[in-house]
Amino acid sequence: MLNMKEKIAGLLAGHIEGLDQSEIAKLIEIPQDSKMGDYAFPCFRLAKTMRRAPAQIAAELAGKIAGDPLFAKVESVNAYLNMFIDRAEFTREVMEAVISEKDRYGASDVGGNRPVVVEFSSPNIAKPFHIGHIRSTVIGNSINKIYSFLGYNVIRINHLGDYGTQFGKMIVAYRRWGKKEDVINEPIKTLLSYYVKFHEEAEKDPTLEDEARAVFTRLENGEKEETELWQWFRDESLKEFSRVYKMLGIEYDSYAGESFYSDKMPRILQELKEKGLLEDSQGAQIVDLEKYGLPPALITKSDGSSLYITRDIAAAVYRKETYDFYKNIYVVASQQNLHFQQWIQVVELMGYDWARSCIHVPFGLVSLEEGTMSTRHGRVVFLEDVLNRAVEQTKEVIREKNVNTECIDETAQMVGIGAVMFQELSNNRIKDYVFSWDKVLNFDGETGPYVQYTHARAASVLRNAGAAADKALADAASADMSYIGGDSAYELAKLIYRFPEVVLDAGEKYEPSVVTRHIVDVAQCFNKFYHDEHILVDDEKEKEAKLILTYAAKQTIKNGLSLLGIQAPEKM
Ligand code: ARG
Repeated sequence: MLNMKEKIAGLLAGHIEGLDQSEIAKLIEIPQDSKMGDYAFPCFRLAKTMRRAPAQIAAELAGKIAGDPLFAKVESVNAYLNMFIDRAEFTREVMEAVISEKDRYGASDVGGNRPVVVEFSSPNIAKPFHIGHIRSTVIGNSINKIYSFLGYNVIRINHLGDYGTQFGKMIVAYRRWGKKEDVINEPIKTLLSYYVKFHEEAEKDPTLEDEARAVFTRLENGEKEETELWQWFRDESLKEFSRVYKMLGIEYDSYAGESFYSDKMPRILQELKEKGLLEDSQGAQIVDLEKYGLPPALITKSDGSSLYITRDIAAAVYRKETYDFYKNIYVVASQQNLHFQQWIQVVELMGYDWARSCIHVPFGLVSLEEGTMSTRHGRVVFLEDVLNRAVEQTKEVIREKNVNTECIDETAQMVGIGAVMFQELSNNRIKDYVFSWDKVLNFDGETGPYVQYTHARAASVLRNAGAAADKALADAASADMSYIGGDSAYELAKLIYRFPEVVLDAGEKYEPSVVTRHIVDVAQCFNKFYHDEHILVDDEKEKEAKLILTYAAKQTIKNGLSLLGIQAPEKM
C-alpha cells in the first residue's frame, strides 16, 4: 500500500536523531491550508536530541531533502518543514500502485487472516422478505466484503428467524384454514395470509393463542407432525429468499438460524444457573440487569419455552467455540439496541472476556412514502418485487437511450439492482430514510447508475485507444506525468491515492457509505477531467499519461463498487 507519510518519513529518517521512521511518520501532518504545503513536519520534538533550535533544524532538513524528485518545493517556516509534492512524481507513484495491484488496489493485510463473523440479513421464515430487510442484507454484505478486503477471514452467517411462537400460530392457521396446493404455488404470500388470518381470528377467539403456544411446545419437543410442517415452511421460504440473494449476488457460509440452537439451550441454562445468574420471576427465569441500567433479560417463559434472547446467547457461545472469532459483528436494526445491550451484558456476566468482541452494528428505519408497513395487516412491499421493478424500469431507460441493445438484459440487471443497493449504501447507516422510487431510479446525481456509467465511459475510452492503452500500462514506470499536471487530473490522482485509507476507515466505522461517497467523488472528478481534457490526443506521450489516469480511475471505481457488492459494467 502506497503511503506518502511513510515515504517522506523514510527520506527524513537519515537526517534525524532520536526518532525512527514510524515515529516520524506519525508526526507528519497534512496542513489545513495548502499554502503550507501538502505535508508538514513539526520539529519541536527534535530540539532536545539534536540540541538546536527547532527552526534551525527545520531549515537544515529543508536543505537536505529539497533535491528529492518527490518534492516540487520544500520550505521551512519557523519550526515547520513544509513540503510541496511534485504533482507528476506523486501521480506516477499512485498510478504504479494501481497498475500493479489491480483488483487488489485498496486491499491490505491488517486483518492478518483473523476470523471475523458477519451476521446479516437474517429474515424470519414464512414471512415476506420485504423492503425493510434490504438494509441489513446490503449493509451487511458490504461490511463482509470490506473486512475480507482488509485481510480478515470472514464467516458470513444468516441467522434465520426460523423458530419461536409464531410457528405455533402458523401451524394452527394452516391446519384450520390452509391448503397444501396454495402453499406450494405461492409459499410466502400464502403463509403470510394465514398469519394475518390468525391474528384476525384470535381477536375474536383468544383461545387460539393458547392453542398456538401448545403447538409450539410440541415443536420444541420435536413432535413429528409439527416438525415436518415447520421444516416444509422453512424449505419453501428459503427457496424464495435464495432467489433474492441470487439477484443481489449474496452468498453465505452458514444458514444456522435460531432453530439451530434449540438443542444448545439446556447447556446455557445450566451454565447460567451454576454461575448464579438466574432468578425466578413469577415462574419465568430472568437475569437481573438493574445494576447496568437495563431491564431484566427474560431467559425462559413460565411455560418453559425458550426465547429470542436465549438463542442469541447460545449462538454467541457456539460461534466463539466454532470460529474463535476476533470480532462477531451483527448487522441488525437499531430497534434491537436494547436486546443487544442485554444479551451482551449477560454474556459478560457469564465471565466471557470476548463479550465485548460481539459488536452490534445498528441502522435506521426504512419507511415507505405511503406509510408504515405491517406484516400482520399484510401491508408489505416485497424486496423481490422492488428488484424486478428496478430492472424493468432500467430496461426502459436503456431502450429510450437506444444504446448497447445487444446485452440489454444483463446490463439492466447490473444497473437496476445496483441502483437499489447503491441508494441503500449512500447515507450513514444510522439515518432513517424513506424509500422512494424517484430517487432510486434517478439516473443522474449521486447514484449507482451514475457511478457505473462513469466506469463504462472510462472502459470505452480504453477500448477506443486499442493497443495504445496496453502499451501505456506496460510502460507506466517511464511515463511522463507532467502532461497531466492540471488541477482536475491532480485532484483525481489524490482521490485515487486516498482510496486504501478510505477502505480502512469504512471498516473501522462499519460504515460502507464512506466508500460510496468516495467513489462518487472519484466518478465526479473523472468526469471533470474527461470534460476538461481531450484524452485520445495525437501526442503519444501525452495520450499515454492520460490513458494511465483513466485506467486508474476506472479500477478504483470498480474496486469500490465491488466492496458495495455492485457490479461494474464495461459497457452501458
Ligand atoms: N430475525 C430477526 C428479525 O427479523 C433478526 C435477527 C437478528 N439477529 C440476531 N442475532 N438477533 O427481526
